Amino acid sequence: MKKLSFLWLLLLCIIPGLFARQPALRAVYLRTEYKIDPVTDATRPRLSWELRSELRNQWQSAYQVVVASSPALLAPGKADLWDPGMVKTTITNQLEYGGKPLASRQVCYWKVRSWDKNGVAGPWSPIARWEMGLLKGSDWQASWIGNDLDSLGRGKVYHLPPAPYFRKEITLKGTVKRARLYITSLGLYEVRLNGKRVGADYFTPGWTDYHKRVYYQVYDVTAMLAAVSTLSAIVADGWYAGYLGYALLVNNPVKRNFYGRVPLLKAQLEIVYTDGRTSMVGTDGTWKTNYGPVVEADILNGETYNAQLEFPGWDKPGYPAKGWKAAGVYPDLPSRKLEVYPGNPVRILEALRAKKVTARPGGKYIIDLGQNFAGSIRLKVKGRAGDTISLRYGEVLFPEGGLMTGNLRMARAMDTYILKGDPAGETWVPAFTYHGFQYVEVTGLKRTPGLDVITGLVMGSDTPVAGSLVTDNALVNQLYHNIVWTQRSNYFDIPTDCPQRDERLGWTGDAQVYIQSATFNNDIAAFYNKWLVDLNDAQRDDNTYPIYAPAPQVRATDQYSPGWSEAGIICMYHMYKTYGDTKMVRQFWPNMAKYMQFLEDKSKGRYYFPEASFEDISPKGGFGDWLSVGKKTPPDLLATLYFAQCAAMMAEMARGTGLDSEAARYHQVFSLVAARFKEHYTDPAGRFKTNAAAYGDGNGYVDGAMGFDGHTQTAYANAIYTGVLDGAGNEYAGNQLAGLVRENGGKLSTGFLGVKPLLPALSATGHSDVAYRLLLSTEYPSWGFEVINGANTIWERWNSYIKGTGFENNGGMNSFNHYAFGSVNEWLFGNMAGIRLAAPGYRTFVVRPEIAPAEIGKVRASYHSINGEIVSAWQKSGNRLLIEVVIPVNTRATVFIPAPAAENVTESGKPVVNNRDMRVSGIQGQYLVLELGSGKYRFEVR
Ligand code: BGC
Repeated sequence: MKKLSFLWLLLLCIIPGLFARQPALRAVYLRTEYKIDPVTDATRPRLSWELRSELRNQWQSAYQVVVASSPALLAPGKADLWDPGMVKTTITNQLEYGGKPLASRQVCYWKVRSWDKNGVAGPWSPIARWEMGLLKGSDWQASWIGNDLDSLGRGKVYHLPPAPYFRKEITLKGTVKRARLYITSLGLYEVRLNGKRVGADYFTPGWTDYHKRVYYQVYDVTAMLAAVSTLSAIVADGWYAGYLGYALLVNNPVKRNFYGRVPLLKAQLEIVYTDGRTSMVGTDGTWKTNYGPVVEADILNGETYNAQLEFPGWDKPGYPAKGWKAAGVYPDLPSRKLEVYPGNPVRILEALRAKKVTARPGGKYIIDLGQNFAGSIRLKVKGRAGDTISLRYGEVLFPEGGLMTGNLRMARAMDTYILKGDPAGETWVPAFTYHGFQYVEVTGLKRTPGLDVITGLVMGSDTPVAGSLVTDNALVNQLYHNIVWTQRSNYFDIPTDCPQRDERLGWTGDAQVYIQSATFNNDIAAFYNKWLVDLNDAQRDDNTYPIYAPAPQVRATDQYSPGWSEAGIICMYHMYKTYGDTKMVRQFWPNMAKYMQFLEDKSKGRYYFPEASFEDISPKGGFGDWLSVGKKTPPDLLATLYFAQCAAMMAEMARGTGLDSEAARYHQVFSLVAARFKEHYTDPAGRFKTNAAAYGDGNGYVDGAMGFDGHTQTAYANAIYTGVLDGAGNEYAGNQLAGLVRENGGKLSTGFLGVKPLLPALSATGHSDVAYRLLLSTEYPSWGFEVINGANTIWERWNSYIKGTGFENNGGMNSFNHYAFGSVNEWLFGNMAGIRLAAPGYRTFVVRPEIAPAEIGKVRASYHSINGEIVSAWQKSGNRLLIEVVIPVNTRATVFIPAPAAENVTESGKPVVNNRDMRVSGIQGQYLVLELGSGKYRFEVR
């Protein structure tokens, strides 16, 4: 009997499935403002979903979204917030909420369904939600509180005061239905409720121009409350009051306290009881404060923790708080906005178990964590009260085995833990500092430690992983690994140049050369929605974008630079193209337009920059092709190309946001700049040239003594990439570029600005073979040279370290974790695998793999676009080539199959002919070109 009913059940489950063989579109991965179920203060939050279907060539012909104040009301006709009915459109993202105005704290539930191309409705999606933050200034009852400990900073070189502790005991009025903690600081905070750390975020509330805005976090703490509860926090200087960049190194008049002297806390705990009553506890003068175990805490210089000074039970109810004083209340700045953190918070992304412990002279040990990264450690020790453990961090070892710290410059990057003598052992994780390192040198251990003495805590902005790339070539795989780890290390609340030395700034040049590469690895939409605000907040009075953002003046002469400042437009453009983010474009359009006006004015109406146009900035001409090898490309030639590129991007963004006359105008600017570039910087045959004499002896220019030449790899690569040349001009420039590589012994000579377009420009002009040779080279300078010399991240310089020789460069400018040269990722995904964006958000794209020479037989890349997962894979198999392509629902792709004719190709074993899902559009060069709808395709080429 039992068996029989089981069979019936099975049949009942299978039969409907058989009849429902036409699976309609399923809407999945519902997100609001790029996040899953977030808190936001966007008054018209942007909604997105993705579509899945088992069928090929599927798209959405209509959708229906309902938004309601409770899940019970979430149905058409009942939804009380927004119920616009069926909307005929293919749009599945960047859909702005258009319903009733939303109030602070309001929770909104939503779901969506989509109709497929045949008008068949899909099922409703699972329910998603978002919650509104505090929208009005008056929602904030809490005050800024602090405890001025600045005078307690000791030390001659580093002035590092202790971190203040704050606590407040709360008695609840009943059973809690809902509780939210709204919290922020000027400085960094760690918050606890009843002794437990709230949330998994670090380095909160993030780095901004604190005079203009500070972000807050919102935590659901309903389950953490007790009848009597204690809310407590530790606050540290952080970016607000701590040391920043190289200010100390260059003896800047201001070395710390860039935004303020006393770190402050603002927190508001809001409780709704089951009986409807509410209560609110905010930071104010009734909070108690003290200082204790966190003796020093600084991002660049490290943390000192004296466990003997701990206050047992201070963060739990019932602690007497004897000797604690009342917190000071500090005024707010009227100009400062309080907003919900829009980015991806810094989190612990992974824990690394130590690989090796090596004893060193003087009772020291070096712990190898096996991978260079940014983050912190967990220390596990046992010992006597007062025993002191010192930790120093380094990315590399000297050939003799000692820790190399010269490249940290003035970043002290040292942590100290003083034991309390707990017989059960002690565990410590520094809370307010991070380092860039692979090795930890431990001093103060009484005996040889085990591998568990130090665990590496990999930290970075928690940007969702979006891509993967694997080949059958170990060198390329290692290179990709290095790129991924370098991005992890440097997407750290802001895009930094490096995580180890006294810098860690949001360098705009690095950001712009790398951004497209970054999009392939992770979903950086929210991360850049945050940093683009920082960048625009930092726009200068002369309308240029700065060289780093946020932009405290860490050196008096720091200002703007061609190749760096353009990040204000280039990074925005990539948000627009990659995610279809028109909201950001609209928001910052006036800022971008002002920068374009600056360029036009600076060119004095000439629409190009002749040599020595930027003598007034420091360094003269700006940074130029930073860290290039050999003769320098004139910075003004590059500035002219960047001018053209920005104009073209502005034109495209204008078109995408309905600013038609602006689009036309910027297109005209682009054409003008392109023409002037050719007139001034090329000879009649098309060879690039410059008037090197205009630079005199080059004094004041970066590497000016090496002399300037227009005929460089960097110049040709940028011109091709920027699109300023016509067909014949491109071909000529491509040949010159390939020729220059050949003349240089098959090696590159490019710096930061030249390396990104180098391989793409070679490929675009028919020199894929040269691009592959550069990619696979292991001679200096090359990516492979780093790999064979042991790199597991991307280095700042091609020869940061040479096996057997050691460090080639001046220690101060030798970062082992610098993503700029990792911009080759754009080519790995875009050319080797061949995934290329066409319409914004990958609504249409191109798959055009460039099949490698013998060294690579197999490539597989996947990229999770805002419309779903794209795959491009190819594999050589005897005299056949296998190609796999996955195209997400609601998108289309133009796929280039390397084959002389359709007859040579099959798809899933069938001939390639025009059909419902596929259109054969002909032969282009060495490729058979197909137009494909969504789905999985397997091609075999004979
Ligand atoms: C940084 C770079 C940055 C450069 C400006 C360096 O110190 O580390 O990555 O772009 O300065 O030239």
